[in-house]
Amino acid sequence: MNRTINGDGQLVIGGIPAQEIAEAYGTPVYVYDVERIRENARAFVQTFEQQKVPAQVAYASKAFSSVAMLQVAKEEGLSLDVVSEGELHTALKAEFPVEKIHMHGNNKSLAELQMAVDARIGCIVVDNFYEIALLSELVEQNNSTMDVLLRVTPGIEAHTHDYILTGQEDSKFGFDLSSGQAEKAFSLLHNNERLHVKGLHCHIGSQIFEASGFTLATRKLFTTMKEWRNKFQFIAEVLNLGGGFGIRYTEEDDPLSLDQYALALINEVKQQSADSAYPLPEIWIEPGRAIVGDAGLTLYTLGAIKEIPGIRTYVSVDGGMTDNIRPALYQAKYDAVLANRMNDKSSKDYAIAGKCCESGDMLLWDVELPEVEHNDLLAVFSTGAYGYSMANNYNRFGKAAVVFVENGTHQLVVRREKFDEITRLDLSYTKQKELK
Ligand code: LLP
Repeated sequence: MNRTINGDGQLVIGGIPAQEIAEAYGTPVYVYDVERIRENARAFVQTFEQQKVPAQVAYASKAFSSVAMLQVAKEEGLSLDVVSEGELHTALKAEFPVEKIHMHGNNKSLAELQMAVDARIGCIVVDNFYEIALLSELVEQNNSTMDVLLRVTPGIEAHTHDYILTGQEDSKFGFDLSSGQAEKAFSLLHNNERLHVKGLHCHIGSQIFEASGFTLATRKLFTTMKEWRNKFQFIAEVLNLGGGFGIRYTEEDDPLSLDQYALALINEVKQQSADSAYPLPEIWIEPGRAIVGDAGLTLYTLGAIKEIPGIRTYVSVDGGMTDNIRPALYQAKYDAVLANRMNDKSSKDYAIAGKCCESGDMLLWDVELPEVEHNDLLAVFSTGAYGYSMANNYNRFGKAAVVFVENGTHQLVVRREKFDEITRLDLSYTKQKELK
């Protein structure tokens, strides 16, 4: 995120003082620096271009889906991953090129598959046998065809600094390679003239800091591709290695740069295809967090301050687990600053609490800030991924607004949910007469 401090000691994001955004739209508010989204997208796209390898960078829209966001992704030439009717609907509303949309999901409904087939999206990432049955029937009935990728679980689970080789591929997603299920699924698809298998897909995890998990997965998939070349005379046109590229939330995090991730994949795929005289497949990736995570921050207004002598000082904000459930759900850590007093040298440790009725609704357990006052403005950094997209209405709080800043201007791209909109789906109850 492009951030500076102005002469008044105010945090400035994309050319706009944070205070100005808070005053214009209220808090809590998610603020995205559009330039940063574009820089992140370009880091991936340009690395593939420079290395002259055919590729598709698909933005995993689960990280943050809104019409405006998908318009930016479209402008940057990205492809798009959707996992539900709602995400597909958003993509169609944003007039995203349908041929660049891929659909994921471990339990796609008939309605979802129908919507994908009707919209003529680029490809469906097939996950399980039930889906094969549904999709086969659908394309038959519709007298249509569909490109598919086969999602496999290569038995590698990556976690931040580490990856785990699981002998048993214990995952709800995809077909496991070792038991022969993937091969059975492949032959079902391969023998269906209406379904065209473009290649294989795997996704080994999220917030991964090292390239080794990705390169190992690449090798595993090549082993399978070589087997199927011999057995079925099948050549994969596409190798989709998923998303999961880690970002820096706090100083403790030490991810690779985005071009380093892409280069590691490119080198491994080139090496594997050269070693086995396998035609170089198109490399597809699906970054979500790496595109939007560090492009977004959340602004909150500070309210109640509760000092427990000798223990800690709680400061409550006007949002919390309703706009960012990650600390409560994953013990995720963030950095934060007082956006209206960036040059204040006083210092104290605080615990930042959300306002939901839940003790676990904490945003940061320990953060050093200048001595705070009511109505100070807190900026929590790197909330651009899985913040708004996992927002919820617990305690019937409305969802926060989303604002884009770019070239010194700001624009509202998702309106704040009003409390009367919270009841928009509610119907009144009518007391039923007792049966005589
Ligand atoms: N492709 C597939 C098949 C995925 O399942 C995911 C994420 C992605 C791509 C994008 O992964 P990314 O590049 O964003 O790491 N809610 C969690 C993250 C869940 C990720 C689920 N799948 C969080 O807030 O950390």
